[in-house]
Amino acid sequence: MIGVFDSGFGGLTILRELRKVLPDYDYLYFGDNARAPYGTRSFETIFRYTLESVRELFARGCPLVILACNTASAKALRSIQQDVLPHEFPDRRVLGIVRPTAEEIGKFSKTGHIGIFATAGTVSSNSYGIEIGHFFPELHVTQHACPMWVPLVECGEAGTEGARYFVKRDVEALLAEDPEIDTVLLACTHYPLLEKEIRAALPTGVRLVFQGGIVADKTVDYLKRHPEMDCRLTRGGTASFLTSDTAKFFEKGAFLFGMHDISAKSLTF
Ligand code: DGL
Repeated sequence: MIGVFDSGFGGLTILRELRKVLPDYDYLYFGDNARAPYGTRSFETIFRYTLESVRELFARGCPLVILACNTASAKALRSIQQDVLPHEFPDRRVLGIVRPTAEEIGKFSKTGHIGIFATAGTVSSNSYGIEIGHFFPELHVTQHACPMWVPLVECGEAGTEGARYFVKRDVEALLAEDPEIDTVLLACTHYPLLEKEIRAALPTGVRLVFQGGIVADKTVDYLKRHPEMDCRLTRGGTASFLTSDTAKFFEKGAFLFGMHDISAKSLTF
């Protein structure tokens, strides 16, 4: 199976896109809902939680795990890839979603000024600044942390007056910092659920970029370039769901993310 990990529900927005372009594969999703949100936690904690989750997905039969969470990709991926995999799991792979997004984002902007909305953890890591700098050194990148957005989504507040208020406030703060921004990246997998509020607050002509499609296309490309991994992945077209919270909690929350009639399993560490 392909393991897909997120701190909670946000990775479901990535899973949906993966299943569109790679429908035949089997997926095992794990949402660490009991310990979400990750966005405001320390580097050490995010690393520990992410590694525990990756170990679970490995143990349950995933040779490849995608960290469908920007915060985990920004704060834990490098250490897992460099310090853990070579010693403990030399034949397993963990991929993140920051680098594939950074490889593409510069192609969308005409002014060369882009804005990024992400969690406080992702912004403070400056992973996007560093990665984008490799591919588009000329691009002017402004990052803005939106600590209220994940709780709003997880609490089912998308579409409410409260959500509109916080989104407008953050959009205005970003554009005040750089009025030349013509492209805005949603660098948190939860944020697509606030699309309506974000579009309403953005001036017309500013392009909104979602990373689900980008990550999905990059995964197709990865599997083409790595047939030795591709041949280890089972093809049954299934998706199973694990959560560190209760199954009921996950099933109810996943509904908000457009996943209807799924049945989840609870696991405790
Ligand atoms: N969805 C996660 C991301 O892409 C973060 C959510 C959280 O704060 O746990 O960054």
